[in-house]
Amino acid sequence: AAIMKGKFDTFMQKEIYEQPESVVNTMRGRVNFDTNTITLGGLRSYLPIIRRGRRLVFIACGTSYHSCLATRAIFEELTEIPVSVELASDFLDRKTPIFRDDVCIFLSQSGETADTILALRYSMDRGALCVGVVNTVGSTLSRDTHCGVHINAGPEVGVASTKAYTSQYIALVMIALQLADDRISFTERRNQIIDGLHSLPALIKRTLEQDSALQTLASTILANSKSLLLMGRGYQHATCLEGALKIKEISYMHSEGILAGELKHGPLALIDENMPVIIVMTRDSLYPKVQSAFAQITARKAQPIVICNEDDDNVPAGAKAIRVPKTVDCLQGIINVIPLQLLSYYLAVQNGCDVDFPRNLAKSVTVE
Ligand code: G6P
Repeated sequence: AAIMKGKFDTFMQKEIYEQPESVVNTMRGRVNFDTNTITLGGLRSYLPIIRRGRRLVFIACGTSYHSCLATRAIFEELTEIPVSVELASDFLDRKTPIFRDDVCIFLSQSGETADTILALRYSMDRGALCVGVVNTVGSTLSRDTHCGVHINAGPEVGVASTKAYTSQYIALVMIALQLADDRISFTERRNQIIDGLHSLPALIKRTLEQDSALQTLASTILANSKSLLLMGRGYQHATCLEGALKIKEISYMHSEGILAGELKHGPLALIDENMPVIIVMTRDSLYPKVQSAFAQITARKAQPIVICNEDDDNVPAGAKAIRVPKTVDCLQGIINVIPLQLLSYYLAVQNGCDVDFPRNLAKSVTVE
């Protein structure tokens, strides 16, 4: 059946707005909120092998790579297995050493990205256990891996990935939770995250209410900007990289995601009163460090736009704020990326760009 845009102007806008439901579809039949358990049928018989793995190596391109970066820390915390995150092309360029006791996890919306498939063949040849986390059922990656998880986000048409990102993120968190379900010491942390998953759809809905504020931001403060820097650290570094990718892809504006911890090692030189900056300052254990980054850029006369939690009264008066609901630290990136999806959308519309089919890009890159 043809996929219709319905009341939306573009597929991307429709897909952004589908997220309260697509995340539910990712969790359906897998998260039991009564017993706080996770059951990923596609991994079941492989769980012992994964837990015994020497390393977890995540391999992907584009937005799918960002979902791996976004969940790296929760894998490290809950599995205590060393984790690396690889761009498929670079992984192949380096002829990365891979061994029989490695677990390679391939992320792809389409399941047909050439670089990712080549990295799969390479890892298979070296005897690693290969896990696929894919949206498209029946795709090459979902067929040719040993085991895996379908993210069940539904078909995504817009070249700029939105609902697939939030569903990949959740699928990866579910895998980390399932891997840790034999560890009593993590029970409390697991329960806290599962509670967070439960309230996510409602919080996504609330975040989408920022729509008109983001449209205004695109048409006022950022209307004539040549460039936009996005800063954050910890869990929010991936959010910044993903937000900057969205902005580049569809609005053609230069944008860069910056790790706030690296500010002093270069990016600070870019900062003056004319450089637009968004800084992600939702509350987690790194908040004081992000506050210090905020102070360093305002001292150079930047007027950062702040993404902060709804009830945060610590944000300096006068700072332009985008307020989002608070959730568990390792899930906050799912909420925080939404205003950036909407912002990129409105910047693109305003620039007269073809939102669903940006120039020079393809939804699925099937050549190396
Ligand atoms: C292309 C698309 C991106 C996507 C990337 C990886 O570059 O334009 O939106 O993130 O490929 O695609 P995959 O299907 O492997 O997730």
